[in-house]
Amino acid sequence: MKIAVLPGDGIGTEIVEQAVRVLGALDLKFEMETAVVGGAAYEASGRPLPEATLKLAKEADAVLFGAVGDWKYDKLERALRPEQAILGLRKNLGLFANFRPAICYEQLTHASSLKPELVAGLDILIIRELTGDIYFGQPRGKRTSPDGNFPGAEEAFDTMRYTRPEIERIARVAFEAARKRSKRVTSVDKANVLETFQFWKDVVTEVHKDYPDIELDHMYVDNAAMQLVKAPKKFDVVVTGNMFGDILSDEAAMLTGSIGMLPSASLNASKQGLYEPSHGSAPDIAGKGVANPLATILSAAMMLRFSLEQEEAAQRIENAVKKVLSQGLRTPDIYSEGTTRVGTREMGDAVLKALG
Ligand code: IPM
Ligand code: MG
Repeated sequence: MKIAVLPGDGIGTEIVEQAVRVLGALDLKFEMETAVVGGAAYEASGRPLPEATLKLAKEADAVLFGAVGDWKYDKLERALRPEQAILGLRKNLGLFANFRPAICYEQLTHASSLKPELVAGLDILIIRELTGDIYFGQPRGKRTSPDGNFPGAEEAFDTMRYTRPEIERIARVAFEAARKRSKRVTSVDKANVLETFQFWKDVVTEVHKDYPDIELDHMYVDNAAMQLVKAPKKFDVVVTGNMFGDILSDEAAMLTGSIGMLPSASLNASKQGLYEPSHGSAPDIAGKGVANPLATILSAAMMLRFSLEQEEAAQRIENAVKKVLSQGLRTPDIYSEGTTRVGTREMGDAVLKALG
């Protein structure tokens, strides 16, 4: 089993370090190899996703990814910005299925900005299509506007598009995932306005015929954004496109109290995967030793489950995380009165100890 370790920028290095320590304590045989990515790679080689890093990621069974990005790269031309590294990895590895669970841990119910009764026991799985949509659609660029409200004016444009197979495969992923949960899927679209998402809705409905045991409903994205803060527990599996999934998954993450707790998995058709915390590189707290490593540690658990077929080890990590929360240990992002404030490394130490 080979794991490519790509810590990236900002808090990426600190949090990945803790996840690597936890993986190392499992008595499993992995080969782990580290490479630069994002801004760190740009500094080292002038490119956010160097050939060697991409090669390592492709050859590995799984990629453990930290985070990329820093304000200081915002002025670079788009192709050189750190974000291009994660987009390039998704595209080059064909990681079309992004799993973003939003789980509200019992111990953190009061950390949510919503009333405790709205989020207690929350367990949503957002499945975001990750290699299509307006993120990757061509053509895109800048030009002189040929028509519209201001013909002849300077304009920028992107293209929203989805092919049938892209929608079919992500719909199947969602229905299969629902089979292992409460057997309900909500497909989120904007079929009332966009051709792309009318087609999305039609194709998801067709695929659903193969899954008569699963209940499917459709919701417009604006309503979904509202329902997520009104009655989040009504959702179970949510499937949506790349852009809507980007936005809704951040919203869902915040319901749980801290985005610092949420792991994610991005899988391709052969179960090769990239595992990363749902949060970003948080340059404002980088290097201070206060970042929450739990999302990355939980991402390592997802990696064991989905790509490395080590379910038992995955549960060992997840139980250890619950244990440290029960012990009252909290990094600043999840701290509340009466709990014990700890730093990144102390939290890693505690998880290691709780592995038993
Ligand atoms: C995410 C991030 C990325 C995205 C950025 C960093 C390119 O926001 O993983 O949700 O938009 O997909
Ligand atoms: Mg995002």
